[in-house]
Amino acid sequence: MTLKHTTMEADIDRILISRQQISQRLDEMAREIAAVYPLKGEGLVVVPILAGALIFVADLIRRLPMRTQIGLLLVSSYSGTSGSEPRILFAPGSQIRGRDVLIVDDILDSGRTLQAVKVDLCRHEPASLRSCVLLRKPGKAPPEAGADFVGFDIEDVFVVGYGLDFNSYYRNWPDIAVLRPELYR
Ligand code: IMP
Ligand code: MG
Repeated sequence: MTLKHTTMEADIDRILISRQQISQRLDEMAREIAAVYPLKGEGLVVVPILAGALIFVADLIRRLPMRTQIGLLLVSSYSGTSGSEPRILFAPGSQIRGRDVLIVDDILDSGRTLQAVKVDLCRHEPASLRSCVLLRKPGKAPPEAGADFVGFDIEDVFVVGYGLDFNSYYRNWPDIAVLRPELYR
């Protein structure tokens, strides 16, 4: 990547989902989530998968009407010959025992990340465990790795922005976008 003399904007090929579309859909998703959980009592423990879920979770939880706590979770994806294997580096423990837990991630692709996170959190016996993703590439994840709340189904292209990265860049682009193809080479 030769980034020295160009702007971030010059790297964007097209906007797939605009910031206005995201905002509208988040209003709906918050209503969908609020309909499932009690408004009273201890409320939710929201577990964002870092770093991709950072921006999504910040916008989502401010739309939720119930008491909400955050339990941070950090995953690294190992690149091996058989694809990338997620490894959980940091996760909530006894904090989630007996609680309603909602995992939040940016995108559901193969489902390996979400499945690994579910298995890890289950060990601490939450009262309920659901998951919420902003984006999903349909038909790629097995049913057991599915998400309970999905923002948008998208075509199978690599996207950046609104938390999603390429080489750790572009998380701060406010829309979901596709990069110019020459950047991947
Ligand atoms: P999975 O484990 O294959 O479901 O992949 C999920 C993780 O891979 C997400 O949390 C993202 O960090 C990353 N990922 C998958 N597809 C994309 C993409 O199109 N753009 C950016 N990151 C992606
Ligand atoms: Mg991620």
